[in-house]
Amino acid sequence: MSVYKWLDERLDLDRLNKKFMRKAFPVHHSFFLGEIALFSFIVLVLTGIFLTLNFEPSTRMVKYEGQELPAAYVSVLYIDSLPFGKVIRSAHHWAAHIMVASVFLHLLRILISGAYKKPRELNWLLGLALLGLTVVIAFIGYSLPFDAFSVTATQIGYGIGKSIPYIGDWIAQVVFGGEYPTLKSIPRLYALHVLWLPLLLMALIGLHMLIMIKQKHTQPKYAEEVAPGKILGVPMMPMQISVMSILFLLYLGVLFILAGAIIAHPIEVYGPPGTSTPALKPDWYFLWIYGILQIIPSTWQIPLPGGASITSEFIGGVLIPGILGLVAVLLPFLDGRKTKMRYVELPSQHPMRTSVTVGLLFFFFVATFAGWKEEFGMTNAQLWAMLIFIPLGAWFVTYVLMRQIWGKEG
Ligand code: HEM
Repeated sequence: MSVYKWLDERLDLDRLNKKFMRKAFPVHHSFFLGEIALFSFIVLVLTGIFLTLNFEPSTRMVKYEGQELPAAYVSVLYIDSLPFGKVIRSAHHWAAHIMVASVFLHLLRILISGAYKKPRELNWLLGLALLGLTVVIAFIGYSLPFDAFSVTATQIGYGIGKSIPYIGDWIAQVVFGGEYPTLKSIPRLYALHVLWLPLLLMALIGLHMLIMIKQKHTQPKYAEEVAPGKILGVPMMPMQISVMSILFLLYLGVLFILAGAIIAHPIEVYGPPGTSTPALKPDWYFLWIYGILQIIPSTWQIPLPGGASITSEFIGGVLIPGILGLVAVLLPFLDGRKTKMRYVELPSQHPMRTSVTVGLLFFFFVATFAGWKEEFGMTNAQLWAMLIFIPLGAWFVTYVLMRQIWGKEG
């Protein structure tokens, strides 16, 4: 008796096959972005397991080659000395970059194709939570090796968290275990990075997938012409699974070539934390916030009752990203529809949505550029002017272009 038959008699696999494995998946490369985010998460968990087996989440001082160094830092040096240790750690780090990038691009795909509309509002909201969690987990990951870079980068995050009026101190206690860096900081951040936040992420990804399967994908535009009213795509088994497996293998190939060629976060280059603060810039996905913080004068302070105040750190690090987040949360309710959406919308069909998205992207680019204020010798006034007028210009040009394209197509 075959293994399949043996299992089928016990688990009714045939029924499961008919119910799930015949699901149709649209064939379009833009749908790969969510899958790449998923692959990154799997790789992060697997490489992360290897790292946890060798990492010591502690800042106690230990003797290493005649020097007194934090145990966390020494354990990362130890990981790097293991066979393939450096490559696996590097792959973990690169997979985090790829995950943040693919989640963001996936969000952009959903945004410009209108896939956030009825009935997919819930998955849009869950997606926003997934993006937030991904970025927070990546940020916490930085703190763990406890090198000079980690400590400075975490201090910036700590300052932003603490700047939230009234609840900042409480957040600092919960996330950082007190005034960062205390002895409790690394064990606390470690537990959040390897256990609680990934568990939450896993549960939310599971829910995201279930809802997506239940609601079915939006259909690419061509499906409306080829087979109106029908779900067009390839079945999960064997085609979609094969496509996904090939994509996963490609992903692994590219990731490990990258990880081997460019070792991410070489801690011996940064060295252990010392008395001088290294000049550094955060990762690319935080640079826009860093840039905004650079051009907000520290004199921007608004006193609040009870001794609290709104500081420049709060405005750049919490308020501006918070307003963008709130607009994203409200989007499916402000720009919804009455009937269920089946086919993706073309960017040119919605000139305002597309042009505002492009304007926002330019806002992120210019804010990122502001992170090099000193290197380019620019003033705050110049950068503020760029931050306001370049995105507005990009919005206007895109709007006119989209109107023209849709005029020709429509
Ligand atoms: C850990 C992060 C995420 C993972 C692993 C993930 C995974 C996926 C996958 C595999 C799909 C199906 C394929 C596709 O449409 O690309 C999907 C669909 C979807 N995702 Fe995500 N996603 C994540 C984050 C997000 C974010 C940030 C948003 C938006 C805020 C979002 C909103 C949606 C929506 C609305 C769909 C249905 C799209 C459609 O039917 O066209 N997801 N997600």
